[in-house]
Amino acid sequence: MRTPALDLPVRLLEVRVRTGAVAILDGITMMLEAGAPTVLVGPNGAGKTTLLRVAMGLIRPTSGLITWGGREICPPTRRAIMFQRPAMLRRSAAGNIRYALAAAGVPRAKRDARIAQLIADVGLKGLEHRPARRLSGGEQQRLALARALARDPDLLFLDEPTASLDPAATNAIEDIVRNVTARGVKVVMSTHDLGQANRLAGEIVLLHRGRLIESGPAAEFFASPRTEQTRKFIAGELLV
Ligand SMILES: Nc1ncnc2c1ncn2[C@@H]1O[C@H](COP(=O)(O)OP(=O)(O)OP(=O)(O)O)[C@@H](O)[C@H]1O
Ligand SMILES: [Mg+2]
Repeated sequence: MRTPALDLPVRLLEVRVRTGAVAILDGITMMLEAGAPTVLVGPNGAGKTTLLRVAMGLIRPTSGLITWGGREICPPTRRAIMFQRPAMLRRSAAGNIRYALAAAGVPRAKRDARIAQLIADVGLKGLEHRPARRLSGGEQQRLALARALARDPDLLFLDEPTASLDPAATNAIEDIVRNVTARGVKVVMSTHDLGQANRLAGEIVLLHRGRLIESGPAAEFFASPRTEQTRKFIAGELLV
């Protein structure tokens, strides 16, 4: 087990993100604590990606407060994020990971072994030398996960990590989430797959139109939703 993450807990207090007159996040108060993954759910445009970017430290709230381990300024050296539509460098799959390892300050002599391990972890063996931009969508998503893991983060943000993956690849990613969680990494992820949320989450957070509708342990969230909106969302009905 690694030493406790310095970035945790992440506290958000009345966080607002506005563009013009539109509130993309509207008064979000929540805490990301060590332990099982926190899973963000909600309809398209709910604010999941924006919340992940705020928690990573890529977007500053328009108002409200965010702290990492009690600090308002905390460089993202032990945090990593995998974007919804990852951009690949014009290099091989291995080259993309090598770049991430170099950026994370991993010594040159250790990079080859780490690349081999990360390629194996995400199930891309045999594709190391393929140009990353020629990989399929699902393969690129797995490569993006390998790049995020290259930083050996304490806190890992995954934005819809299995959105374009087939069932076998989805299982593989879910196993990786379980494995890194067992190693003490805090995973915060978004998904539209409620089965996946149920399988992976410690806590589930439902967002809708930039607001936090309900959060709680996965079992309670599904078995006894406290709000009508959560009940509708679980039932697959449209939220208004
Ligand atoms: N930089 C921006 N400028 C203007 N509007 C933005 C910006 N970023 C996000 N938005 C808007 O904020 C809302 C929330 O976007 P966000 O990407 O966080 O939603 P999401 O929950 O991740 O949706 P999805 O499930 O489709 O990925 C959307 O309506 C989006 O158009
Ligand atoms: Mg999104």
